[in-house]
Amino acid sequence: MDEERNTPMDTRTLGTTGPTVSALGLGLMGMSDLYGDADEVESIATIHAALDAGVTLLDTGDFYGMGHNELLLRDALRGRNRDDAVISVKFGALRDVDGGWNGVDVRPAAIKNFLAYSLRRLGTDHIDIYRPARLPGDVPVEDVVGTLAELVQAGHIRHIGLSEVSAETLRRAHAVHPIADLQIEYSLISRNPESDILPTARELGVGITAYGVLSRGLISGHWTARRDTGGTDFRSYLPRFSGANLDRNLALVDALRTIAEARGVTVAQIAIAWVLARGETIVPLVGARRRDRLTEALGATAVTLTDADLAAIEAAVPADAVAGSRYDEAQMALLDSERA
Ligand SMILES: NC(=O)c1ccc[n+]([C@@H]2O[C@H](COP(=O)([O-])OP(=O)(O)OC[C@H]3O[C@@H](n4cnc5c(N)ncnc54)[C@H](OP(=O)(O)O)[C@@H]3O)[C@@H](O)[C@H]2O)c1
Repeated sequence: MDEERNTPMDTRTLGTTGPTVSALGLGLMGMSDLYGDADEVESIATIHAALDAGVTLLDTGDFYGMGHNELLLRDALRGRNRDDAVISVKFGALRDVDGGWNGVDVRPAAIKNFLAYSLRRLGTDHIDIYRPARLPGDVPVEDVVGTLAELVQAGHIRHIGLSEVSAETLRRAHAVHPIADLQIEYSLISRNPESDILPTARELGVGITAYGVLSRGLISGHWTARRDTGGTDFRSYLPRFSGANLDRNLALVDALRTIAEARGVTVAQIAIAWVLARGETIVPLVGARRRDRLTEALGATAVTLTDADLAAIEAAVPADAVAGSRYDEAQMALLDSERA
């Protein structure tokens, strides 16, 4: 039982073979990378607050802050019961000394090397869900999953996940070894997975961990056109956050705000509740890096959207209303999920 909220956190099971986790997961990426400066003390306090509220699913990547994110998680879990956390780790992305992106490596020896470093950094003998961040296509997905299956057999990882893959790739992967969950961007303004990927995951019994449910803050209700993202915030380079696209997208947020205010909740809570309402096998990952943001996000689990609410939301933010792609062109090209 969570003392602050006085209600137990709902749980969801990731597909037919995956672990049971909190209905909301916490994504740690912004605590180490990509979204400008983050405060380490506040980041750890946020992870602690999440665990205390019953959040069990903690998502990281070995390349987030080039190891920093895993070390942060290790610090946050010190003195806690390791088994209270379901640790999800992405691997594969290569960086250079300046933090630039340098391709993706998912060859078997590279996977085993990434895992060894992650286990050491995390201070644990197993990772609960281990997944390639991207599949560049030079190694067949069967080989990638075959290597991961060996690591399951050896007890180093408990479950296999994927990230940003197409329905066809998911089907091929699942034929080699059960996939616990597919991590993919899914939100009110990122609806692509609905046509093919979500139905296939449902058919196969694969869970979904949805990231970017607030579109990286754009549809959180806290983003404004005046926000200074500075040079270290990768959002300043994203098409949806720039120029006329930003104005159009913030107009959608204003439409959402009207609905949120009528319901007495916040824009972020409506956006998260909408993803929660899309299916019992979908677990939104929220990227809160401060306790106040986390508290707001957790409030979404208490928001039940009626059919009338859902219709109003759909009218305010039609499925294809967003302006701009979710990544720039080079990063879009790396997404198996976006390949025709
Ligand atoms: N598989 C993949 O390819 C992939 C890609 C990206 C992310 N991910 C994972 O998914 C996680 C979530 O992604 P994301 O951080 O982009 O998602 P998000 O939840 O859409 O965006 C998080 C950002 O929104 C802002 N925000 C405003 N109000 C918030 C609230 N109440 N709760 C939470 N955030 C609020 C915060 O920015 P400010 O703090 O600046 O206000 C926060 O950093 C990541 O941490 C990572 O683990 C996976």
